[in-house]
Amino acid sequence: MARKILTYPNRILMQKARPVDTINSFIHDLSRDMARLMYENRGIGLAAPQVGESLRLVTVDLSGPDNREELVTYVNPEIIWSEGEISTEEGCLSVKGYQSKVTRAEKIMIRALDLEGRQVEQEGQGLWSVCLQHEIDHLNGVLFIDHISRLKRAIYDKKLSKWLAREKE
Ligand code: NI
Repeated sequence: MARKILTYPNRILMQKARPVDTINSFIHDLSRDMARLMYENRGIGLAAPQVGESLRLVTVDLSGPDNREELVTYVNPEIIWSEGEISTEEGCLSVKGYQSKVTRAEKIMIRALDLEGRQVEQEGQGLWSVCLQHEIDHLNGVLFIDHISRLKRAIYDKKLSKWLAREKE
């Protein structure tokens, strides 16, 4: 079955994903599929729950779909350290038609496994840090719209239910 990107309010997006215990051919295929869908939809990061697999796996390529030079897959990523604050405009392939400023840590360090099962630790700031926090949130069933004010969220939810009602007509 061909995977596709799920959108809010799909329930899989709201679940805590389980750790990857074996990096087998299923995980390799999944990560290739995620990278393909990320590029096709012009994203810079994607988490496995967004393609319907409730597993702790993310792909990131900050060089973007036009360059495709910095693809990294993180298995079971965890934030082990964070510092500072940064506020940037975020969007998400799973949240249609909406962008908002979100405040996150400016600098983080993560620990993860790569696709060969080696442990990696990486520290970064700015866009990389924001992107990783956004993707790791997905693994915990959290979307960027969970970080905005209740008023903004209520406005978005109302708009979304109108779109969904129209699609059903
Ligand atoms: Ni997202």
